[in-house]
Amino acid sequence: MAKKREIYSCSKCEMILEALTDGNTAECCGNEMQMLVENTKEASLEKHVPVIEKTDGGYKVMVGSIPHPMEEAHYIQWIELNEGDKAQIKFMSPGQEPIAEFKTEASEVSAREYCNLHGLWKTN
Ligand SMILES: [Fe+2]
Repeated sequence: MAKKREIYSCSKCEMILEALTDGNTAECCGNEMQMLVENTKEASLEKHVPVIEKTDGGYKVMVGSIPHPMEEAHYIQWIELNEGDKAQIKFMSPGQEPIAEFKTEASEVSAREYCNLHGLWKTN
């Protein structure tokens, strides 16, 4: 059973889904998709855990405290800012800095990011 806001991946292709409602787990390439659990892959915490910094009118999210590589074969695909019942996503490309700026009035936020090799990470 999938729950709203969970992230799923296909073990055969590179499809990633975010559930926008509760429901049955999706299938891809003939198999049930696997739920990703944040911060569970063996990789550098310093290069993957998002760091949130308050800015004028919003937040800057950096991946991570040591900048993550942004190469064709290994890069941050997206950075998501969560603020209660709202979310904002910045999709990234190789060659960009692993930084996203978000405008919001929210006082409490958290962030998640997805590395194409090392999976899903979130702020603690
Ligand atoms: Fe990575």
